[in-house]
Order: sequence, then structure tokens, then C-alpha cells
Amino acid sequence: MALLEIKNLNITYKTDKKEIKAVKDFSLDVEAKDSIGIVGESGSGKSTLAMGILKLLPKETTKITGKILFNGVDLLKLSEEKLRNLRWRDISVVFQKSMNSLSPVHKIGFQMEDIYRVHEPNVSDEEVRKRILELFKFVNLSDRVYTLYPHELSGGMMQRVSIALSLIHYPKLLILDEATTALDVVTQGQILDEIMKLEEGLDLTRMMITHDISVVASSCKKVVVMYGGCLLESGYVQDVLINPKHPYTQGLLDSFPALTGEKKNLRGIPGSIPDLSLEYKSCIFANRCKKARDICFKKVPETKILPNEWNVACHLLGGF
Ligand SMILES: Nc1ncnc2c1ncn2[C@@H]1O[C@H](COP(=O)(O)OP(=O)(O)OP(=O)(O)O)[C@@H](O)[C@H]1O
Ligand SMILES: [Mg+2]
Repeated sequence: MALLEIKNLNITYKTDKKEIKAVKDFSLDVEAKDSIGIVGESGSGKSTLAMGILKLLPKETTKITGKILFNGVDLLKLSEEKLRNLRWRDISVVFQKSMNSLSPVHKIGFQMEDIYRVHEPNVSDEEVRKRILELFKFVNLSDRVYTLYPHELSGGMMQRVSIALSLIHYPKLLILDEATTALDVVTQGQILDEIMKLEEGLDLTRMMITHDISVVASSCKKVVVMYGGCLLESGYVQDVLINPKHPYTQGLLDSFPALTGEKKNLRGIPGSIPDLSLEYKSCIFANRCKKARDICFKKVPETKILPNEWNVACHLLGGF
């Protein structure tokens, strides 16, 4: 059994006039100790997926169907109380603006102590402090941050506090949603190195949403390519990023500078992302796909499973 099994997940935002289908029939198995990069253009449903996993979306305005099994337990069926038990301790998520959720009137250390004590009410003050300072070291923050207020930190320092906080209970699953994007490349690299070391030592599994494919290539084992709420391709980094099968993945890679080798012209993908309020009976990428044929406009492609856990949702598989 995989640590996280997402099965036929659909997430719809209900707005005044329209329903936005932000995640569509999305299935993914995440094995313990996997590190998975999730990539795709802006608006492809990555953050919605992350929030859906932890049921952080408002009930009144979103509809979620499908299954999200964590250690076999369906998170979508758990009570709010049980979910609260799970957050931070088993699953942690860091968003780009996570720090906005910290109170401006309390010092950082005090707030972290509080969060630590939610799940560990009986630890001594000394132990809590030790753990927090250990995490500061881990994310390259000085001890003095303990006694600072959130407004006294720079954006990058705040982001590092969020990452430290997410690791406070050594979660099993860590979801980073553009969490390192605001950091300078040196700090980002250091933190990712430290997280990767943690993964070796602990049973830490990481899902990392990023626009930066080079970060996925250097720090993840697997990659998921999303577009218009759909999973178009997934598999091991060395397969998908080296020899992409889906024309969308090929386009995405052509939009980035080469990871190695000669310089190339960046081509990008002409056209814009699909209107998610519409019902698609075709491949969601068909109208932007250079290789599209008749069938692509007539039928939603099934996901084909190739050897080595490689999934591709494309009618043309094998034909190009
Ligand atoms: N609260 C909301 N209400 C209505 N629609 C929303 C809401 N949040 C997101 N959406 C829509 O859902 C779709 C997916 O958005 P999401 O934020 O998940 O994309 P993303 O892949 O994380 O993009 P980015 O890379 O820009 O962060 C978009 O069309 C977006 O406009
Ligand atoms: Mg996002």
C-alpha cells in the first residue's frame, strides 16, 4: 500500500456564475520516501491539489469527490478533529505565503512552542526550545529569530521559519507549494540539501510544487506534469524529463533553458491555459498541441501505463 493514494480526485470551485473544475479525475500513488515534483503552468491546479489533500478548501464553495487515502485512511471522510491531529504531525504543508497565518503580536519562538505543544503537551520547556533551535540551524536561521516578531523578518527568513515549522514533528509527508521559490538560490539549495538528508535518515516523503524544473531534476525522484487540472504525464525524473512522451511535457521542457549541454532557443507553448469552467470531451491540451490529430479533439485520452511507473495521458502515444 502506498503512503498516499489519490484516486479519481475531482475538485470544483463553485463561484457565483460558474463552476471551475480545478482538479480533474486525478490519480496518483505516492510511496513512502518518494520525492515528487509537481510541475505545470500557472492555473493548472497544483495548489488546489495540495490544499485538497489536507482538506484546507472551504466546504461551502468547493466540491471534492474521489479518494485520498493516507496510510489507507480516506482523508476526505475524516472528521475535522481527526484531521487536525494529522496536520503538522503526519502531513505538513508549506505555502509560499504560509507565514501570513502566524500572529503578528507574538514572537516567533513562542508561536512555534505553541504549535509543538499541540501534539506534544508534556515535553519540557527546555526540550521544546532545543528542538526549535535545531530546526533554525537546519534552515540556516540564527537563534535570535526566536525572540523576533514576524514583521521583523525578511520574506526569505519568514519562509525559512515556515519550513522549520513544517518539520517540527518530523511529518511523514511534507508538501511544499512554491515554498522555496522566494529564497535566493544558495539558501534554496542549502535547504533542499538538508531536506534530502532528512529523507535519507527518516521516513520523510516529499511532494514539491514548483515552477522550476531544474529544482525537480536535482532534488526529486519522480515528477508529475499537470495541465488544466489533469495529470498528463508522471514517472521517474530520469525518464520523464530526459525523454518526455507527452507533447505538453515536451513543450514545458522547451520553455526552460537546457539542464545540460548546448544552449537552445526557448520555444514556449503558444496559446493559453484552458477555460476550466467548460466540460472537455477532448484531450484538454488538444487546441495547443502541435501534434494533435482528429481523435485528440473527440475523446478524452486514457492514461497509459508504461513500464517503470510511467503514466502518459495521450492518444498519440507510440505514434510520435
Ligand atoms: N478560491 C477559488 N475560487 C475559484 N477559482 C479558484 C480558486 N482558487 C483557484 N481557482 C482556480 O482554480 C484553477 C487552479 O488554480 P491553482 O491555484 O490550483 O493553480 P496552480 O497550478 O497552483 O497555479 P500557480 O502555479 O499560479 O500557483 C485556476 O483556474 C484558478 O483560477
Ligand atoms: Mg499555486
